[in-house]
Parts: sequence; structure tokens; C-alpha cells
Amino acid sequence: MKADAVRPAEAAPFDTKALRNALGRFTTGVTIITCLGADGQPVGLTANSFNSLSLDPALVLWSLRQSSPSLPVFQQASHFAVNVLAEAQVDLSRRFASQTPDKFSEGAWTAGEGGAPVLTGCTAVFECESVSHQTAGDHQLFIGRVLRLSEAPVPPLLFQAGHYRLLGEIL
Ligand SMILES: Cc1cc2nc3c(=O)[nH]c(=O)nc-3n(C[C@H](O)[C@H](O)[C@H](O)COP(=O)(O)O)c2cc1C
Repeated sequence: MKADAVRPAEAAPFDTKALRNALGRFTTGVTIITCLGADGQPVGLTANSFNSLSLDPALVLWSLRQSSPSLPVFQQASHFAVNVLAEAQVDLSRRFASQTPDKFSEGAWTAGEGGAPVLTGCTAVFECESVSHQTAGDHQLFIGRVLRLSEAPVPPLLFQAGHYRLLGEIL
């Protein structure tokens, strides 16, 4: 295809709902991403935009919607922690996807690198130094350098087509 044959974005032959539905077919794990606010209060939200970016250096990425009240907190934070949820943590996922003001009142956690909360019972945790954040459409893209990690042999929680799911068979 010639470069000038690429359609401009406004001519995309799909609407946002169709895009969301098709993207939802891509199965992901579920994370709760946390940081420590300048006021000393922990902040966190459920996110499935997490992904690996680079092995050497060890970099990961995730994105946060621009309208999130948590955005200024993550922008000023020097560190964040990516807590990869186990299947037993679906209630925690729902809690951190809500507007509940006291998200951290349920479930045990400890302060990790830079004070970012590390949740107990996860299948993996990546404690990161926040190295960059930039606007990407209606989201803000965060990149972190992994300083410390842990993993546990417990099944992960999955998310697909708008539903939480459990891991099936290994082929
Ligand atoms: C499975 C799942 C994945 C989500 N992934 C993201 C994400 O990657 N980025 C995002 O901004 N919101 C995501 N959300 C929505 C946020 O969790 C939700 O809007 C939450 O209230 C955000 O907290 P806030 O009010 O502090 O912004 C996701 C929700 C669910 C249930």
C-alpha cells in the first residue's frame, strides 16, 4: 500500500463502540496500579492496559484516561507499582475500578519502592521508577523502569469482552 493511500483518522470505517468491542476480544490479565500521593495518601486503580515494553532495560507501560482524578497524582509520583491480580482478587479489582474513596481500606498491603502500595496475594508485582508520561489521545501513557519484582504460582485473573474470566487449559 502506498503511503498516500492510508486513510486519515477521521475516515475510520468504525465507531468507538466497534473499536472497543474488537479490542475487548484481546484477552488480558488485570492489574491494580498504585502510587503514593504527595499528601501521603495511597492512590490506585484497576487497569488492563499494562504490558511489557523492553527487557534490557526492563521497561513496562500502561495508560490512564486523561479525565481520571488520579492523573495528577501519578504524574507527580516518582514510582508506581503494578500489582498483577490473582483469580481470588476479583472483588479487589471491582473495588479499585470504582469511585470508592477508601479503596485501600480492604485488603492487606505494604509500602514498596517510593511508597507505592504492594498488595498482598498477587500473582506478580512490578515495582517501578516512573521514567516518562506523555499524552496519547484520550489517555496518558506511563512508562516505568522495573526496580524490583516478585511472583507467586497462583492463577491470574483474566479480562475479556467486558467480563472477568478464569484461566482454561494449557495447550
Ligand atoms: C478490567 C478493567 C480494566 C481497566 N483498565 C483501565 C486502564 O487501563 N486505564 C484506565 O484509565 N482505566 C481503566 N479501567 C477503569 C478504571 O479502573 C476506573 O475508571 C477507575 O475508577 C479509575 O479510578 P479513578 O477514578 O481514580 O480514575 C479499567 C477497569 C476495569 C474493570
